[in-house]
Amino acid sequence: MGKSSKDKRDLYYRKAKEEGWRARSAFKLLQLNEQFQLFKGVRRVVDLCAAPGSWSQVLSREIYEKNVDGESEPKIVAVDLQPMSPIKGVTTLQADITHPKTLSKILDIFGGEPADFICSDGAPDVTGLHDLDEYIQAQLILSALQLTTCLLKPGGTFVAKIFRGRDIDLMYAQLGYLFENVICAKPRASRGTSLEAFIVCRNYTPIPGWTPQLKLNQSTEEFFEDASIARKNKLGDKLENYLPTEERHIAPFVACGDLSSYDSDATYSLDHSVARVSLDPVQSPTAPPYKKAIEMKRKGQLKQKAYK
Ligand SMILES: C[S@@+](CC[C@H](N)C(=O)[O-])C[C@H]1O[C@@H](n2cnc3c(N)ncnc32)[C@H](O)[C@@H]1O
Repeated sequence: MGKSSKDKRDLYYRKAKEEGWRARSAFKLLQLNEQFQLFKGVRRVVDLCAAPGSWSQVLSREIYEKNVDGESEPKIVAVDLQPMSPIKGVTTLQADITHPKTLSKILDIFGGEPADFICSDGAPDVTGLHDLDEYIQAQLILSALQLTTCLLKPGGTFVAKIFRGRDIDLMYAQLGYLFENVICAKPRASRGTSLEAFIVCRNYTPIPGWTPQLKLNQSTEEFFEDASIARKNKLGDKLENYLPTEERHIAPFVACGDLSSYDSDATYSLDHSVARVSLDPVQSPTAPPYKKAIEMKRKGQLKQKAYK
């Protein structure tokens, strides 16, 4: 699809480039904040799975720039497997959120203090095998949640991208043990046709007597075992096998973002009365997986295989 047809089909894509956001996802966080006032009083923030950095840009604008001259300077840490170009007021960490060392690196930046707000927009590389993709996505959210239990202050907020798949009410149930309030939110900038949504978990309530500890090669079940919220979440297992009916949680669903704002599934015609140019992306990928292939192609090192 050409740049201008994408501009037409997806107004958020075009607006992101016009307003200087590195990705259209910026609008999702802005709309979530509009609905839930997530950034109120927040000074220490962790943005997990942050590259290319549009959420970090929002955090920089809304939290760092608005409070930099105040009593306590905001600290924002952005973590991703990919390197990220710098953003004002944001410390970037190239690290794996599933690795225990990442926790100590974040705590070092915060001087040992807990975070007020943690968000995760994580998405693993898709394999195309639906069950496997769903499982890996669920594991990534659980890794973000594990880090959160070690980092978030009591009363703090956790927001993460989810896909409303088969076992999502199991996830709501697990979150319900840790947070007083769990809501499933769908910003208008997130395509209605996609299963993507965001869990907004407020008022973190640590489990009394449980000290979460991250260890290498420990499964998420083992991690949560002592907190008595560990529930097996293997592929194909039925939720009812693990949770009695009365313990199941159905999180309230909230659509957010002004209903009169752009519909991300619609196609809009561009205003031809003004001279329009197709804008380049604000930030090209720093280390895309296809970079090596492009270099090899340029050097003539990519040989086409002959198939018989
Ligand atoms: C949809 S993108 C995030 C977009 C970002 N919120 C923004 O607004 O620019 C998902 C990111 O998750 C990252 N990711 C996936 N698995 C990860 C892991 N184990 N540790 C750290 N980052 C991870 C990917 O590298 C990718 O950059």
